[in-house]
Amino acid sequence: TKMSRIFSGVQPTGNLHLGNYLGAIRNWVKLQEDFECLFCIVDMHAITVWQEPAALRAHTREVAAAFLAAGIDPRRHIVFNQSQNPAHAELAWIFNCVARLGWLNRMTQFKEKAGKDRENASVGLYAYPNLMAADILVYKATHVPVGEDQKQHLELARDIAQKFNNDFGVDLFPLPEPQIFGAATRVMSLRDGSKKMSKSDPSDYSRINMTDDADAVALKIRKARTDPEPLPGPSVLRPGGGVDPAAEAARPEAFNLLGIYAALADKTLAEVLTAFEGREFS
Ligand code: AMP
Ligand code: TRP
Repeated sequence: TKMSRIFSGVQPTGNLHLGNYLGAIRNWVKLQEDFECLFCIVDMHAITVWQEPAALRAHTREVAAAFLAAGIDPRRHIVFNQSQNPAHAELAWIFNCVARLGWLNRMTQFKEKAGKDRENASVGLYAYPNLMAADILVYKATHVPVGEDQKQHLELARDIAQKFNNDFGVDLFPLPEPQIFGAATRVMSLRDGSKKMSKSDPSDYSRINMTDDADAVALKIRKARTDPEPLPGPSVLRPGGGVDPAAEAARPEAFNLLGIYAALADKTLAEVLTAFEGREFS
């Protein structure tokens, strides 16, 4: 059996928030007990959209500090910023020649980030998933703990690894496995349950920053959007475990808050639904 190795990354593009923590960083802290890990601050991904150089430097250090504050042990694992190792960019170029335009054209994150003004997006923003594949595969990492939004990019990394191995008749690259777990793999905005919590939302009330103090967190939770119905119960769970998609789509704010609560209380969503069924949001 081949050795397991973890690689994951975060962009230094601003304040880290609860989505980054629950979707990714908190899971890394658990995984570092059992695996050899590389945790990367992906500064070259950040420059696919404009960054003020001084702010980029500051954010790179802030993200590194957040990794350590969350419990990553830099004596046992590798913590670094991407641009320190030129092999990422070198392998990304080779992958630019392996990946197909048709594959990249399907990437939803590019469509969202480029928006309507696609002609004016950087070429780097388009090729971004190839650099991400290079980040992982240059170290032959086997497992990649990320939030739900990165699933499509991981599938692309697997396709690239497989095509490279096939084209050259080698068994060089492992097919990396996404690790998407916990009760909050996709944390949504506190102001609009249909949008994911993000660093770029103009409203600070939409997110809980890792640097917010307890009063700010409590205030943001109190001001979070709700709906007039009492909280749902375990009947919304499907036999397999997940929430019925129609039920979730009808009340995205309720399920977001329940998921956040479950993740932070270290409970399953089923337990939380059972405990709060019929209760008020407050
Ligand atoms: P980024 O800040 O876009 O570099 O994301 C860093 C990590 O946080 C990735 O693993 C993302 O999947 C995860 N992440 C970002 N936003 C969210 C969110 N709203 N919910 C869950 N995970 C997220
Ligand atoms: N694209 C990821 C994000 O925005 C960040 C990232 C870059 C990454 N390279 C990676 C995540 C390699 C995991 C593995 O969230």
